[in-house]
Amino acid sequence: MCCHVIYVIRTAGRGRTGARGPSGDTSTTVFSRPKQKLGEKEIEEHSFSGMATAASWKPLLLRALDSNAHLKHSTFFQLATIGSNGRPSNRTVVFRGFQEDTNEIQINTDRRSAKIEEIKHCHFGEICWYFTESWEQFRINGKIDIIDGANSDACKLQHREKAWFASSLKSRLQYLAPAPRLPDISNGSGEENQLDPSEGPVEAFCLLLFDPEQVDYLNLKSNERFIFTSRSSEQGFKVWMSEKVNP
Ligand SMILES: Cc1cc2nc3c(=O)[nH]c(=O)nc-3n(C[C@H](O)[C@H](O)[C@H](O)COP(=O)(O)O)c2cc1C
Repeated sequence: MCCHVIYVIRTAGRGRTGARGPSGDTSTTVFSRPKQKLGEKEIEEHSFSGMATAASWKPLLLRALDSNAHLKHSTFFQLATIGSNGRPSNRTVVFRGFQEDTNEIQINTDRRSAKIEEIKHCHFGEICWYFTESWEQFRINGKIDIIDGANSDACKLQHREKAWFASSLKSRLQYLAPAPRLPDISNGSGEENQLDPSEGPVEAFCLLLFDPEQVDYLNLKSNERFIFTSRSSEQGFKVWMSEKVNP
């Protein structure tokens, strides 16, 4: 297993009594070197073993999902993209979990929907996710990968198929409906579509993989805000840094 380095930047000075930092990644920290001074900031280096992206915002997000699990809407978030006209475009989508052991967030969508053209035009997006029980907001900025049936990567097609079978039959049926946003000419007849549960993904089904690059975390209960930023290391894996900032 390879070993990766994450730099955790904390502003110098004492924290408030009782103030808690992000519950973070202590479980994956296997080694820590002495702190170095960098102007007003202290840098701690932690070595991590595990996947290429040890991101300390992820345990916070998992904790928020857990503490808000009794609320159905806690798995809905807003996904913003940029239209080809340069205007923002935003909509609610369902969190479909992380892509295996990575930080990539899975979203199911219809290949015929407007967001696909928008993402093709500009593959950056932002997720805004508010947890109403724990009063935590995550603004996750990153890149979006579109995986539709025409994708040439066999591994990605497998992920798409897995996502298809992981969704309910009712959800799958939506992808057989007439193309979104075209005029409704059904006259309310509500034609019933049939789908064999063992049938693989239909053409309209599309998996989006959202790869976070920056996370802005705000906790309204503790009045704390952390910015997590990533960069690619020379070895080609992602290094995450975090900074506590004023809310
Ligand atoms: C609670 C809720 C959950 C939704 N989940 C999804 C989803 O997972 N994927 C999706 O493509 N659209 C979902 N939608 C519909 C989108 O908000 C949006 O209307 C649709 O995707 C078309 O957006 P677009 O025209 O910007 O592509 C959901 C809507 C609501 C209200």
